[in-house]
Amino acid sequence: MINLEINSELISINLKDLIEQLGEDKTKDILSSFECPMNMDVQNFLRYKAIPFSKQGISATHLIYCYSNSEKWGKYKELVGYYTITTKNLVLHKKAVTNTIWKKTLKFCNNAPKDNKCILAAPLIGQLGKNFANGNDALIKGSELLELALNKIKQIQNEIGGKFTYLECEDNEKLISFYEENGFTVFGKRQLDRDETDIKGEHLIQLLKYIK
Ligand SMILES: CC(C)(COP(=O)(O)OP(=O)(O)OC[C@H]1O[C@@H](n2cnc3c(N)ncnc32)[C@H](O)[C@@H]1OP(=O)(O)O)[C@@H](O)C(=O)NCCC(=O)NCCS
Repeated sequence: MINLEINSELISINLKDLIEQLGEDKTKDILSSFECPMNMDVQNFLRYKAIPFSKQGISATHLIYCYSNSEKWGKYKELVGYYTITTKNLVLHKKAVTNTIWKKTLKFCNNAPKDNKCILAAPLIGQLGKNFANGNDALIKGSELLELALNKIKQIQNEIGGKFTYLECEDNEKLISFYEENGFTVFGKRQLDRDETDIKGEHLIQLLKYIK
């Protein structure tokens, strides 16, 4: 059965449930219509990796649909974006964050925090993007998409504990501002792995958020 979570007119569907409902071929057709020309990593992940990663449990992808049933716009259901979550370890250095954040992270530290370095397991928002096909990006704001991802993480952390989430983005002023405006703080830089060929630049900027 598909899990539907209604957030006004935006509806989230777990990709795993969609595969169960429609089968892999139909699901692939839907994903192949997703376009994100500004970020080929976001586009290609959904088209080629999201299904095998979901099936193997490497990450979970959630598709966001915009539903309308209004007299003005008629009936439609459009894929407007997606996000993907997984859990990974992040390495945080004391000097990279404020004292307040550092004190909070120490509660979740996996290591004895020697050398002012703390390693913690946290949900990583591995992918997040709007669907630019057919102008569908106009049906959702980036902040709404991010809020859906954060709400999902909050719901999971309510069950299993945890307070932090993090993500990695290209070193692009507009992307960094987008995440900072939505409560994330830059805490580091990571060199790209050899297989990360769809990403622009040589490193990614890492950002952290404490979920209240
Ligand atoms: C990031 C995103 C969710 C933000 O959505 P939003 O807040 O509604 O903002 P917009 O889509 O209007 O983008 C805001 C600005 O950032 C720019 N921008 C967005 N993604 C960008 C990217 N990957 N590279 C360069 N610039 C980007 C847009 O061109 C726009 O520039 P403008 O103000 O000059 O018009 C959305 O732009 C998106 O899906 N981008 C492509 C996917 C992506 O890069 N995701 C981030 C992965 S870490």
